[in-house]
Amino acid sequence: MHSDRIRMPALQSKIVSAEEAAKHVSDGMVLGLSGFTRAGEAKVVPIALSERAKKEKLKVTILTGASLGNDLDKIMTESGLMARRMPFQSDAALRKAMNNGEVMFIDQHLSDTAEALRNGQIPKVNVAIVEACAITENGGIVPTTSVGNSANFVENADKVIIELNLSHPAELEGLHDVYYPEMRPNRSPIPLKTVEQRIGLPYIPVDPAKIAAIVVHDMPDSYSNVLPPDEETQAIADHLIKFLENEVEQGRLTNSLLPLQAGVGTIANAVMHGLMKSNFTGLTMYSEVLQDSTFQLFDAGKLEHASGCSFTLSEEMNKQVMANLDKYKDKLVLRPQEISNHPEIVRRLGIIAVNTPLEVDIYGNVNSTHVSGTKMMNGIGGSGDFTRNAHISVYVTKSLAKGGSISSVVPMVPHVDHNEHDVDVIVTEQGLADLRGLAPRERARVIIDNCAHPQYRAALNDYFDRACAKGGQTPHLLQEAFQWYANLEATGQMLPK
Ligand code: COA
Repeated sequence: MHSDRIRMPALQSKIVSAEEAAKHVSDGMVLGLSGFTRAGEAKVVPIALSERAKKEKLKVTILTGASLGNDLDKIMTESGLMARRMPFQSDAALRKAMNNGEVMFIDQHLSDTAEALRNGQIPKVNVAIVEACAITENGGIVPTTSVGNSANFVENADKVIIELNLSHPAELEGLHDVYYPEMRPNRSPIPLKTVEQRIGLPYIPVDPAKIAAIVVHDMPDSYSNVLPPDEETQAIADHLIKFLENEVEQGRLTNSLLPLQAGVGTIANAVMHGLMKSNFTGLTMYSEVLQDSTFQLFDAGKLEHASGCSFTLSEEMNKQVMANLDKYKDKLVLRPQEISNHPEIVRRLGIIAVNTPLEVDIYGNVNSTHVSGTKMMNGIGGSGDFTRNAHISVYVTKSLAKGGSISSVVPMVPHVDHNEHDVDVIVTEQGLADLRGLAPRERARVIIDNCAHPQYRAALNDYFDRACAKGGQTPHLLQEAFQWYANLEATGQMLPK
C-alpha cells in the first residue's frame, strides 16, 4: 500500500499523475534526475515530459547520477526533450545525437557534479525528480537501488518531485548513508575510515515545502546487460589474480588485499567474478556500481563488506538479492556518488582500482571515452576519480576489438583520459604489464611484449624502435602516431591483416 510508504500524512495530498507532475517543468529548465547505471532512475515523469516535448517547445538540461535504464535516454533524446546532458550516459541513440552535435554532452568525473552544483559553478537545478521507496515521518526521501547525485539535486533544487516506486521492496530502507561535505573553505575531513562505516542519514533530508508532487507507480528498474565471463576475460582475471598473489607474497598486501573498486561492464564484472576461485579472503569493496559479482563474492564467503552508490543486477540475481535483503543489509552501504568516488576517501582507504579502457598506448596513457579520438562512447564515469588516487590502478581490456580490426594497444592514444602518471598496471588476455617504477621507454617494452596481441606486436615494436632512434623521454613519430586511425577510417582496419 502506498499510504504506508508515505509516513508524513500531510504529503498524501501531493499525490498526482505523472502528467500533472510534469507541469512543474518548463522550457529551458535544468532537471536533476535520480538514476545511476540503470538503477533507481526517475521513470514516469521523464516519460510524461517526453510526451509533452513531442507536442510543444520543451528543451531541458538533464543531470543524472550516471546512465539510465528503461531506454529513458533514448526516449528523452528522440522526443527532442534533451538539449544538454551530464555527467554520463551509455545509450546508443543519445550517443548518436551527441556525436552529431544535436545534444551537448558534458563528460564529467562522477564525483564532481555535486561539488560544481554546490559551488554554483554550473546552473542550479530547477526541479529534482527522484525515485523513492518510502517517505519518512519528516518528509525525508528513502532512495531505491541508487543514491547517485539525488541528495545533491534535492538540496540544490527549487522544487522536488518524488516518484514513489512500489516495485522496490520497502526493506531497501536502511541501506543508504547520505552525507554532505561541508562548504569550503574550512571543510572538515570526511570522517569515513572504513568501507562499512556509516557517517550520514539513512534518507535524503528535504524541506517538505519543496516537495511539489508525488507520483506513485510500480515500473521496475532495467536489468543489467553484462555478458557472462568468457575464455579471454577469464585469462585477464587469472593474470590479475596472479599479480595480486605476488603482492601478498612480497608483503605489500595482506590476504584480504585492500578495498576493491571495479568499473562497469562485462570485463570488470568477469574480473571480480574471477576472485571467487582465488585464495583471498575477508575482501572488501569500495566501488561505484555493485554488479552480480559483488553478491556472488558475498555468497561465496569471500567478501565481507561492500560500499557503492548503486547496484545493477541481472534479472536472476536481482530476484535473489531483493528476496534476501536482510542477509546482505549489514554488509552493504549505498552512498552519494560524491562520497563513493571521493578522491579523499579513495586515497585514504588505498583502493585497488580496476577499470576498463577503450584502448591504451605503449606508454600507458588510457583512452576510456573517445572512439578514434573523436566519437564519444559513454563518458569518463568514475574511472578518473579512482585511477588518480588509487593504491594500485589497473586497466583491463581484451587486446583486440571489433574482431581484430582494432588493436587495444596503439602507438599513441588520440584522446587521453588517464595519463601515464596514474596508470600502474595494464592487463589483457595476453598478459600483464606492471608499470610501477618504470620509465616510458621501459613501459613501452613491457606493454608491447606482455599486452599487445601478436597480430600487432611487430608493428608496435617497429614504431617504438624507430621513435627511440629519434630520441626523447617519451619517443614518438608525430607524423605517424595516428596513422592507424586513418587506416581504420579508410579501410575498416588499423593494419592490413
Ligand atoms: N575502439 C572502438 N571500439 C571499441 C574499442 C576500441 N578501441 N574497444 C572496445 N570497443 C567497443 C566494443 O567493440 C564494444 O562495442 P559494441 O557495443 O558495438 O559491441 C564496446 O566498445 C564495449 O566494449 P567491451 O569490450 O564490451 O567492454 P566494456 O563493456 O567493458 O566497456 C568501455 C568498455 C570503455 C566502453 C566502458 O568500460 C566505459 O564506458 N568506460 C568508461 C567509464 C568507466 O570506466 N566507468 C567505470 C568507473 S567506476
